[in-house]
Amino acid sequence: MSRFKRIDSIVEAVGNTPLVRLNSIERDTPGVKIYLKLEYANPGGSVKDRPALQMMKDAIDSGRLTKDRMLIDATSGNTGVAYSLFGACMGYKIALVMPSNVSQARKNITQAYGTQLIFSDPMEGSDGAIRLVRKLVSEEPDKYFYSDQYSNPSNPRAHYLGTGSEILQQVGSEITHFVAGLGTSGTVMGTTRRLREHTRKVVCVAAEPAEALHGLEGLKHMESSIVPEIFDAKLPDEIMPVPTEGGWDMADRLAREEGLHVGHSTGGNVWAATQIAKKIKEGCVVTIACDRGDRYFAPMRWEKNYEW
Ligand SMILES: Cc1ncc(COP(=O)(O)O)c(C=O)c1O
Repeated sequence: MSRFKRIDSIVEAVGNTPLVRLNSIERDTPGVKIYLKLEYANPGGSVKDRPALQMMKDAIDSGRLTKDRMLIDATSGNTGVAYSLFGACMGYKIALVMPSNVSQARKNITQAYGTQLIFSDPMEGSDGAIRLVRKLVSEEPDKYFYSDQYSNPSNPRAHYLGTGSEILQQVGSEITHFVAGLGTSGTVMGTTRRLREHTRKVVCVAAEPAEALHGLEGLKHMESSIVPEIFDAKLPDEIMPVPTEGGWDMADRLAREEGLHVGHSTGGNVWAATQIAKKIKEGCVVTIACDRGDRYFAPMRWEKNYEW
């Protein structure tokens, strides 16, 4: 479906994202094509638009989300932006729980849509936000619809129906490998399930931060985290550790060499794609651009040249 179209609501602008070839990065690994699916082209600017919208639609259809309840969830930012924009557009109230040290830009974006923000302990990271939202919901169960992106099957379903299907339409049988980072794991779980239905084997790799304390915002180091219920460690063919440095350096290269100013998890995804490309002599690796780099202009905890 063309992006050149007239739409009745911003909801209809979700999906149908471009797939761009990484001509410069590819030169390091001749014989292997590398493609990046630009999920930042979604209206909320990230890979989380599809799952947020799917979770809301499925909850509305089943009667779990109504206009007199408030959707609440723990989010590091991008899912919150997506809930906020669709909530504003469709007329649903949104409350987000996030660690208080997420960037000011993230807080400003979600508040611009009229969303209520609740802050959790920054020292407890995204797991602290999950614990706080569970407490709030257990105290007032009738007030909230807890969307729970870490356990909600509509999250991976969005990528099964959207991301995975679109990748096959865009590259067809050429695809040999898919790789994406693990946050909630929705992208990897849903896309992998769809790619597995393809007639030819597609090797699907999950990328995760190599260290527990890392600077790849949006991604989870599973061993030291609350493991998402939707995550099935047996589904990917491989789980690849990604060093923060690799992700940050690749994000710089993507801006300078490809004109793609992306966030660090995207740098991590493309770093992982190049590791796959180095191992295979020929093939076609597809990965995901989760969000844009301008979301990270505000200072973050992890700094280059700084060791924990
Ligand atoms: C910037 C960024 N990258 C990657 C991810 C991981 O995606 P998923 O939750 O589908 O595993 C997220 C998810 O929150 C994210 O915000």
